Amino acid sequence: MTDTAKITLGDKTVDSPVLSGTVGPDVVDIRKFYAQTGAFTYDPGFTSTASCESKLTYIDGDEGVLLHRGYAIGDLAEHSSFMEVCYLLLNGELPTAEELEAFDNTITRHTMLHEQLATFYRGFRRDAHPMAVMCGVVGALSAFYHDSTDIQDPHQRMIASHRLIAKMPTIAAMAYKYSVGQPFIYPDNKLSYTGNFLRMTFGVPAEEYEVVPAVERALDRIFILHADHEQNASTSTVRLAGSSGANPFACIAAGIACLWGPAHGGANEAALNMLREIGRPERIPEYIARAKDKDDPFRLMGFGHRVYKNYDPRATVMQKTVREVFDALKVNDPVFEVALQLEEMALNDSYFIEKKLFPNVDFYSGVILSAIGFPTTMFTALFALARTVGWVAQWNEMISDPAQKIGRPRQLYTGPAHRPYVPVDQR
Ligand code: SDX
Repeated sequence: MTDTAKITLGDKTVDSPVLSGTVGPDVVDIRKFYAQTGAFTYDPGFTSTASCESKLTYIDGDEGVLLHRGYAIGDLAEHSSFMEVCYLLLNGELPTAEELEAFDNTITRHTMLHEQLATFYRGFRRDAHPMAVMCGVVGALSAFYHDSTDIQDPHQRMIASHRLIAKMPTIAAMAYKYSVGQPFIYPDNKLSYTGNFLRMTFGVPAEEYEVVPAVERALDRIFILHADHEQNASTSTVRLAGSSGANPFACIAAGIACLWGPAHGGANEAALNMLREIGRPERIPEYIARAKDKDDPFRLMGFGHRVYKNYDPRATVMQKTVREVFDALKVNDPVFEVALQLEEMALNDSYFIEKKLFPNVDFYSGVILSAIGFPTTMFTALFALARTVGWVAQWNEMISDPAQKIGRPRQLYTGPAHRPYVPVDQR
């Protein structure tokens, strides 16, 4: 703790402690503020509010820095694997080779779903959005895995965390298979986490499926880029749901529901749809003008960020990965050229410069996922697949935090003051 912040309200002056972290902004501890002053602080959207203490992920929005347990996202994307990053987020340190092998084996052996869960899919229309399916099926997991729902038992919390990380690829792949009327493909324990997901998604019983190493590597890197991101909307949803003592499967289902929104994880689907709608570089100025028009609700999807007021370091890696996948699959989709030129024009436009709007993680991801063969409706499901490790790591951290209480914000009430009831014949 460094010093205190004096806040004067009317005839009251309170000293609130100022707390410092390892790096990043200090926080003013206002936990006693209401008791001392009778007033609430007000911060809809939490633009200036720290909701918790965390050791998982640090973001410096001005410098475009993203660290997971102290390791830079660029280093992890280049040198690590998604399984290694999952271990790092859950346990706090990079694993030894033996630890990583044991962790990988544990996750591999949790990839199968209870067979009765397959019937849940039959209740959906074939054209149901995969995120609707993910919300339903993940929420239903709590009905099948009662032996990992006691949130006060660290061992059960870790089993539930492993089950969620392991089963998300199976659930997402089944959502895709159901949407295209193909049979579900069971996990194959000989494959990597990401290779297994590719085979469950694109493999068919009628022939062998060959995982393309460059695609496996690119998708594994995309999963790393989406693993965790501090207290974003869906993570905050998971923490708030978890603060009531709800079981982990219900909490992650709540996170999936929040991620679905186009302002958050749904932006990758919206960004590719936007790029396809633009279609050719000549039409870019029209869309940039619309994005700048206050009277037009249109926004450049995949641009801007609550925290990053510089380039999203994940977008940098994502753009390089587009070229790798295009070369590996000999793809020549004009949408990448539209994306590159749109970025170039936006970053040279005073509106975007003044408002510090840069491409975010969602701007290029859809270009890659489309090249690999995923339909746009699967993009956010892949984001949820990768973000599950961040959600469960944050959820575990919250449950283990002795300072955590049920989350219960207050409000500024501007409705009617007390008034007498009026019988209907007198209205
Ligand atoms: C993710 O929080 C996270 O960490 C999220 C995430 C994660 O990993 O979990 O990083 C993943 O959700 C990335 C963001 C994906 N969303 C999009 O790409 C959707 C398009 N972007 C915007 O809707 C917006 O930029 C947000 C929602 C991302 C951020 O919104 P903020 O912080 O609330 O900013 P704002 O809406 O107050 O915008 C500030 C100004 C506004 O103009 P003024 O009212 O000040 O005149 O910038 C403008 C906005 O109109 N603006 C945009 C814009 N984004 C903001 N104008 C045009 N196009 C855009 N994309």
